[in-house]
Amino acid sequence: MLDTLISIGDTLKEIRETQGLHLQEVADKTAINYTVLSRIETGKRLPTKPQVQNLATFYNYSEQELIKHLISDKILYEVQSEDFGLEGFHLAEQKIKYGLALFNDYENLEKFDLQSRRYIGNKAKLTDWIMEIIHKETEGNETFIDIFSGTAIVAREAMKTYKKVVLNDILFSNNIAYRAFFDNSKWDSKKIVDIVNEYNTLNPQKIKENYFSKNFGGKFYEKEVSKLIGHIREDIESRKNELNKKEYAILLTSLIYTIDRLANTVGHFDAYIKKPIVKRPLNFRLIQTEDFAGAKIYREDSNQLVKRLKGDIAYIDPPYNSRQYSRFYHIYENLVKWEKPKLHGVALKPEPENMSKYCTVKAKDAFKDLVGNLDVKYLAVSYNNTYKSKSKSSKNKIEYEEIVDILNGVGKTKIFEQSHQYFNAGKTEFNDHKEFLFLTKKYD
Ligand SMILES: C[S@@+](CC[C@H](N)C(=O)[O-])C[C@H]1O[C@@H](n2cnc3c(N)ncnc32)[C@H](O)[C@@H]1O
Repeated sequence: MLDTLISIGDTLKEIRETQGLHLQEVADKTAINYTVLSRIETGKRLPTKPQVQNLATFYNYSEQELIKHLISDKILYEVQSEDFGLEGFHLAEQKIKYGLALFNDYENLEKFDLQSRRYIGNKAKLTDWIMEIIHKETEGNETFIDIFSGTAIVAREAMKTYKKVVLNDILFSNNIAYRAFFDNSKWDSKKIVDIVNEYNTLNPQKIKENYFSKNFGGKFYEKEVSKLIGHIREDIESRKNELNKKEYAILLTSLIYTIDRLANTVGHFDAYIKKPIVKRPLNFRLIQTEDFAGAKIYREDSNQLVKRLKGDIAYIDPPYNSRQYSRFYHIYENLVKWEKPKLHGVALKPEPENMSKYCTVKAKDAFKDLVGNLDVKYLAVSYNNTYKSKSKSSKNKIEYEEIVDILNGVGKTKIFEQSHQYFNAGKTEFNDHKEFLFLTKKYD
């Protein structure tokens, strides 16, 4: 453990040196400019929050620890030369404790971006590359279909150029997020900010045990946090009559984004970490909405839905291995549906629901059926080569050659590739991990 009483710059330097890395190497791999990195390490400037997050991921070091260093240095910078700096600092501490919200209007609050959540296989780092190829290789800007939208990060990018964007995913928790972020119906931000301010002044010690805390407390979430989550979820439900659909979706999605970073997991809910959970406050934060008039939102099985759609291009990013998303994110599904089902097993999952064919031996047939039925001019298919991995659950259900064969059956295909650091729970080596994009121009 590093000394806590050192600056963020010294901390970053010490981590780098402990890992035996040169500044140039870090600069190359994180795409943070060498001079900027050097100035950060020597205390000539502070890093930005995204830079700290980037470095935490790169060094595989606790993001929370580094952000704490960053915030404390920022405060120090503000108060060290003030006569009453320390007193001002203590007063601020009290104000935070008692939930004083300085900015009461939605515009000025710090909010979650669509991207600020953990989601396996999300294409956040690849979106620019994917969209660049699509723009270069295809024509038409009417309708973009993202049939397995996941976090909707690719769909969001498509909204910049296409008039209509179809978002679809079988998960309830993804569907509610699309409605919260993109549905362009009216909502009352003042009403929502007031509710959030109430949530941020709740005292967990005064909150009773509930469905959520009884099941997940001390396991997936720290006990007090889990009581707050259950309480807030119940409260959102009890306000359903005073909220319109967009407001309801915003509160639920914001709850998911808020608790995502508090989960005692490696990023999904197949298991929790079996160590004592560090106590952290639940600071309820809202999402930043991005209303888009052309958003068409569905929660359907991909293969059924495509039979009714027509567009310029379909982006296809299905799951490729046996890991079911509805099982990985069962807690969010449970929280959104809020039917309080009986739970089973160590990971406390409900009965299986929304199981995808793409995670089974039927994947190849499902894929063939999908691309055959899609009424579009182009198909853009994401694929990665995890099938070389040793662990059975990460083995691909459709092999590279099979995808190429199927796509060649419906059109003319170009293949693009890029190396990419893939999500990995630690068991598998993905040293030569490659990300592919197949771009098929369908035959008429
Ligand atoms: C690899 S992820 C997509 C990631 C997404 N491109 C992103 O950047 O976040 C695959 C998604 O497909 C969804 N899914 C799996 N089977 C489906 C089906 N049959 N119909 C609709 N969605 C499905 C999963 O819930 C999951 O969110």
